[in-house]
Amino acid sequence: MRKIVVEGGKTLRGQIEVSGAKNSVLPLMAATLLTDGLSVIEDVPWLADVDVMSAVLNSLGSSCDYICGCLHINSSGIKKTEAPSALVQKMRASFLVMGPLLARYGHARMSLPGGCAIGARPIDLHLKGLEALGAEISIADGYIEATVNRMHGNQIYLDFPSVGATENLMMAAALAEGHTVIGNAAEEPEIVDLSNMLCAMGANIKGAGTNIIRIEGVKNLNPARHTVIPDRIEAGSFMVMAAATGGELIITNVITEHIKSVIAKLKEAGVKVEEGYDGVHVIGNKHLIPVDVKTLPYPGFPTDLQAQFMALLTLAGGVSVITETVFENRFRHAEELKKMSADIKTAGHSAVINGIKRLHGASVEATDLRAGAAMIIASLAAEGQTKISHIHHIERGYENICGKLAAVGAKIQIIEE
Ligand code: EPZ
Repeated sequence: MRKIVVEGGKTLRGQIEVSGAKNSVLPLMAATLLTDGLSVIEDVPWLADVDVMSAVLNSLGSSCDYICGCLHINSSGIKKTEAPSALVQKMRASFLVMGPLLARYGHARMSLPGGCAIGARPIDLHLKGLEALGAEISIADGYIEATVNRMHGNQIYLDFPSVGATENLMMAAALAEGHTVIGNAAEEPEIVDLSNMLCAMGANIKGAGTNIIRIEGVKNLNPARHTVIPDRIEAGSFMVMAAATGGELIITNVITEHIKSVIAKLKEAGVKVEEGYDGVHVIGNKHLIPVDVKTLPYPGFPTDLQAQFMALLTLAGGVSVITETVFENRFRHAEELKKMSADIKTAGHSAVINGIKRLHGASVEATDLRAGAAMIIASLAAEGQTKISHIHHIERGYENICGKLAAVGAKIQIIEE
């Protein structure tokens, strides 16, 4: 089994560059199904999830090539509208091809995306919205099939500002006949990034980034060239690493507007953060102040940085409380942190963290992508050696993380054990 091994106690110092956003590039790739011709997506990180989405598109008949950080995708040759089960099961974001396939070909079939380590992750909001746009949906034997003659616009209200549902419905409505309004839409930067690419393809979308998105359907779309926004979650993860090791990092390729809640929370914890035009300068200190964190849909504190902050707060000088309001089971990293001497109690949506002086290296597991980042943070700050297993979770969302961290002083490598 491949493991990440970290010798803790090293202070991180230097400059680190953030890659393109995983949670933006995946919907952008799905959007290329809406048109023939060659689209080019730039600043694409080399990640396992990008590989899986490429495989999904190629299985449908697209040609998807990754060349020097850019994806060249041509969906002129779509031969089928059923995504392979193994890939959908492997990565939930594969479900984002449902909206585009329905809008362009009137049919889509795939296995129901499973839940994962952080929750059941149902798709009811996606389905209710697609039905509102005219799709007929049937679910049987673990498969979901949707058919429609021509999508028509409608008023949709999301019970929860679901990122994936907003993306799927925006893509479907882009080619629907007439007007669509998505109420209580997700406001994440990745929604704005997708809207920008769809508009570059000829879509008529207004309001992305607010909770009301208005879409005027068009007859067809054209290929486009688009640059992915920087990964705000990777940026936040590196900021926490600087804080946890009492180090000093210049983190470049960051849109600070996208991480205002994270910067505010780090400053509250006693971490020095200076914002530049293209990045942030983070200066950690050994005396972290305990803070309370409540995860919320954007622009609130991102659930994808909750695990990383929990790792940080295990070292604060007092008691912190984390409330996870977005997912129902996103505290599995607490058990792994406790193996490193952390003092954490979880109950339902809350975790109480009693800060301690030192974490101690141990053998731990990455239980999901962001929990894996949390284990790297804890191991960098801990005394002694830590071995992290199940690192395929980490490689889904962090490009060359060991290389990036070794370059700023971490003693970190991947071994085969
Ligand atoms: C996206 O997942 C991200 N993934 C997640 O990042 C992120 O945690 C999440 O948004 C929230 O910000 C990608 O963009 C690929 P949701 P998504 O639909 O779209 C419930 C990471 O680590 N819900 O906003 O699946 C759901 O159960 C990953 O990079 C329904 O009830 O998230 C959850 O409790 C993890 N019904 C909440 O909404 C639905 O139909 C938020 O889910 C859809 C969602």
